[in-house]
Amino acid sequence: MTDKTVLVLGGTGKTGRRLVDQLQERGANVRAASRSGRTRFDWDDRNTWEPALQGVDAAYLVDMQDKPGTWDAEKHIRELAALAVESKVRRLVLLQARVTEPVGGKSLIAGEQAVKDSGAEWTVLRPNWFNQNFDEGVLLDGVKDGELRLPAGDGREPFVDAADVAAVAAVALLEDGHAGETYELSGPRALTLDEAAGEITAAIGRDVRYVSVPHGEYVEELVQYEVPADYALFVADLVAQIRDNKNAVPTDTVRRVLGREPRDFSDFVADAAARGAWNL
Ligand SMILES: NC(=O)c1ccc[n+]([C@@H]2O[C@H](COP(=O)([O-])OP(=O)(O)OC[C@H]3O[C@@H](n4cnc5c(N)ncnc54)[C@H](OP(=O)(O)O)[C@@H]3O)[C@@H](O)[C@H]2O)c1
Repeated sequence: MTDKTVLVLGGTGKTGRRLVDQLQERGANVRAASRSGRTRFDWDDRNTWEPALQGVDAAYLVDMQDKPGTWDAEKHIRELAALAVESKVRRLVLLQARVTEPVGGKSLIAGEQAVKDSGAEWTVLRPNWFNQNFDEGVLLDGVKDGELRLPAGDGREPFVDAADVAAVAAVALLEDGHAGETYELSGPRALTLDEAAGEITAAIGRDVRYVSVPHGEYVEELVQYEVPADYALFVADLVAQIRDNKNAVPTDTVRRVLGREPRDFSDFVADAAARGAWNL
């Protein structure tokens, strides 16, 4: 048990929501923060930053790298981290991504130097694609439509469970020994999109096909659905990281930090199917 007060940005999101639950189970006083969260925090409204940080011991930072339009992650995180240190927040855990090359002209690790320079104790998390993209994120509609059209070729991705990312974040926020670490977080095995679709098909008894589409065609399709062009390119570039096997090798970080295996994609699929996540 702990008497720490922890601010969780993205507190309604995939990792944040799970982190809030895990921190509460460990007795922490938790502030779940976002635009619609119990604690109001809006990256676009500076007036919300200071109140959210007051009296906080440690903070989990989630930025908005996938926002269409201009978003200067480095600048925003630098400013927030400085305010956090001024507000006597001692520890910062930053969620970034296991994507080191720019995608759609954006860097998904742009905030890292800012927390390193802040003067707070810092830990950086770089996860692979989350399992939860299939049941609560960008891939949900495709699964329900029975066709996942993506420019991922036959590339492999060791999808990681958002609950495992949250569990590592909880440890880094509450326990000593993780300051100065950059944790690359993956699931236990790398799957192709075809294999992932096959596992979901078997679990729900309805056909979900993976169709590999060329990068340019995918961008055009998204734009036809009125997705902003810059966001379409961002997503296509991100998926192309899978196609090119950029981050396909599983890491042992979840096991090293938590002392247990990361959750397997099959367990995630079985649970999501049992919950009716893909019911029509
Ligand atoms: N999805 C993945 O597979 C994956 C993998 C690796 C890394 N990441 C990184 O994880 C981060 C979160 O991505 P996600 O897809 O998992 O999203 P998410 O956390 O499920 O959802 C985004 C969260 O941010 C909050 N938010 C949105 N706009 C905001 C704003 N203007 N001010 C404050 N909070 C705001 C949302 O709550 P409200 O709507 O209530 O504000 C929500 O809690 C991103 O930085 C992404 O790069 C994601």
